[in-house]
Amino acid sequence: MSSETGTLTFGGKTTEFPVKQGTIGPAVMDIGKLYASTGAFTYDPGFMSTAACESKITYIDGDKGVLLYRGYPIDQLAEHGDFLETCYLLLFGELPTAAQKADFDYRVTRHTMVHEQMARFFQGFRRDAHPMSVMVASVGALSAFYHDSTDISDPSQRLIASMRMIAKLPTLAAMAYKYTIGQPFVYPKNDLDYTSNFLRMCYAVPCEDYKVNPVISRALDRIFILHADHEQNASTSTVRLAGSSGANPFACIAAGVACLWGPAHGGANEAALKMLEEIGTVDNIPAFVQRAKDKNDHTRLMGFGHRVYKNYDPRARIMQRTCHEVLTELGIKDDPLLDVAMELERIALSDDYFISKKLYPNVDFYSGITLKAMGFPTSMFTVLFAVARTVGWIAQWKEMIEDPGQKIGRPRQLYIGSPERDYPPIGKR
Ligand code: SDX
Repeated sequence: MSSETGTLTFGGKTTEFPVKQGTIGPAVMDIGKLYASTGAFTYDPGFMSTAACESKITYIDGDKGVLLYRGYPIDQLAEHGDFLETCYLLLFGELPTAAQKADFDYRVTRHTMVHEQMARFFQGFRRDAHPMSVMVASVGALSAFYHDSTDISDPSQRLIASMRMIAKLPTLAAMAYKYTIGQPFVYPKNDLDYTSNFLRMCYAVPCEDYKVNPVISRALDRIFILHADHEQNASTSTVRLAGSSGANPFACIAAGVACLWGPAHGGANEAALKMLEEIGTVDNIPAFVQRAKDKNDHTRLMGFGHRVYKNYDPRARIMQRTCHEVLTELGIKDDPLLDVAMELERIALSDDYFISKKLYPNVDFYSGITLKAMGFPTSMFTVLFAVARTVGWIAQWKEMIEDPGQKIGRPRQLYIGSPERDYPPIGKR
C-alpha cells in the first residue's frame, strides 16, 4: 500500500481512496468503496483506466515497448528458451531447472492424446467449418471427458486440468485442420518435442513418413512463446470473468478461445493477411492507407495499433525477424505479400496520422506471412494463437482462483433506458 491517497469530491463530499503501488508500472487507486461512499459508479467501458486485478505474471510498458513474463524480457525468452520452458515459467513463476524441465516436458508429452471419442465429436461439423468454431466447441467439450479434473477447489485437479489443456490444444488444433482438409487425424508421437509433434500432426499423412524441418519447428516454437501471455487482454479478461463464477477450467478456456476469435484481437492475424492480399501490390498501398485514415471508412490497418503499446510491439520485431528466417529457409525469395507488408509499414510509420495516434505494427502484422509460408491456411492463424495463449489463460485463471480475495466479477452500468412505466393492454399500444 502506498502512503499516498487519491481524493474525489462528488455531491459536495470529498472521499479519500487508498493507493496501491506495484513492483513497476502505474499505481492504482482502490475505489472499491466509491459506490458505498458516494452513490456513484466509475464509468470506463473499454477499461482504458481500470485495473481489474493484481497479477505477478506479465508486465507490459506500452510507451517503452517492453514485455516481461515473470520479469524476464520476451526477447531473451524467445532467443534462449523453448515454449514449454515459457509454459513452466508462466505457470509456476520461476524458470525450471534442467530436472524440472525434463519432468515437465515428459508430463505434458504424455497428455497430448485426446479421448478417442473426441474424434467422433468432430464428425458433427461441416468440412468447411471455420477451425476456430471447432476449437471453441472441442475445448469446451473437454470438460465432458475429464470430469476428474473439474473440481477447481482441488489444487491437484487444477494442475492436471492445466497440463491437459497445454498438452491437448495442439492435438485438437491439428485435428481441426485435418478435418477441414479431409485427411485422417494423426496421433501425437512421444519422441517429438511439443512443436515438432504439432507440425507432424498437421502435415503427416499415413502414406509416407513426415520429417519435421527443425528450423521451421524452432520458428513456430518461438512464435508460440511470443503469443503465450499478454496481461489483461480481452480474452484473458474473459477467462478470468468466466472463472470467477467457478466454471470449470475447460469451459473458461473455451470462453477465451471464443473471445480471441474477434478481428480486433486474435483474429487480426487472419485479417492482416487478408488485408495484404486485398492490397495486392505496393502501388495500391497509398489508396488503402488513405481509406484507413478516413473517419467515414471503417477500414483499418489490421496488425497495426494496440490498446497498450504506443511504441513498437516488441513481439512484432521478433516476428519480423522470424518471418525472414522462415522465408529464407523455405527458399521463398521475393514474397509479394512481404514486399507489401514492409512497404506498408514504412509508409504508415512515416505518416502523420499513424505517428500522431501512435499506431505501430503489432504481433499480428508479420505472423500471417510467416504462418502462410509454413503452409497453414489463413483460417488456422488464430487457432495457432489460441494454442499458444492457452498457457497464459490458464496461468491467469490459476492466479485468480488461488487469490484468497477473489470474488465473482459483476460490473454495474449507467442505465439510460426507460423510467418505470405500466403495462398497456395490446389494444392500447
Ligand atoms: C491483439 O490487448 C492485447 O494485449 C491484445 C494482444 C494480445 O497479445 O492479447 O496484443 C493481441 O489483439 C493485438 C491487436 C490486434 N488487432 C489489430 O491489429 C486490429 C487493428 N487494430 C485496431 O482495431 C486497434 O488498434 C486496437 C483494437 C488494437 C486497439 O484499439 P483501441 O485501443 O480501442 O484504440 P481505438 O480503436 O480507440 O483507436 C484509437 C484511434 C482511433 O482514431 P480516433 O477515433 O481517435 O480518431 O486510432 C485509430 C482509431 O480509428 N486506429 C486505427 C487503427 N487502430 C486504431 N486507424 C487505422 N488503423 C488501425 N489499425
